[in-house]
Amino acid sequence: MAENTPLSNEEKVHLRALAAAAAERSYSPYSKFRVGAALLLETGETVTGCNVENCSYRLTSCAEQAAIARAVSKFGPGVRLRAVAVANLNSAASMPCGACRQTLAEFGGDDTLVLYPGEQGPEETTLGELLPHAFRAEFIR
Ligand code: THU
Repeated sequence: MAENTPLSNEEKVHLRALAAAAAERSYSPYSKFRVGAALLLETGETVTGCNVENCSYRLTSCAEQAAIARAVSKFGPGVRLRAVAVANLNSAASMPCGACRQTLAEFGGDDTLVLYPGEQGPEETTLGELLPHAFRAEFIR
């Protein structure tokens, strides 16, 4: 399936719900900011992840990074992202952090859809909007 095929509203709602369900499993005793991410792969498979914090703080893994690690572990190095949803249980507006944008860009394109909670409710954008001029694997080949 093409990376930029539009998702139906139903698919978007479903992906956001998967991200919210993943956030329920977050390990975030320090920030208490429970985050979940759901990836829709080009194959149609979905993979989720949640943030996992550490008492040393800097070893915290974001939800998006956890989801990517799970996707590659399960489906191998060829995984490609069609869409990503992020959610949190704090009713906060939140987009993927800078590090997560780069992590997602490794497996997605500028057209990869990103669903996130905005100030006024569900919002969407693309990876290209969030991380223009990403550092890409082809630069080092
Ligand atoms: N967090 C994520 O899981 N994803 C992001 O893109 C932003 C931040 C987590 C990391 C930390 O556990 C908590 O949110 C507060 O920063």
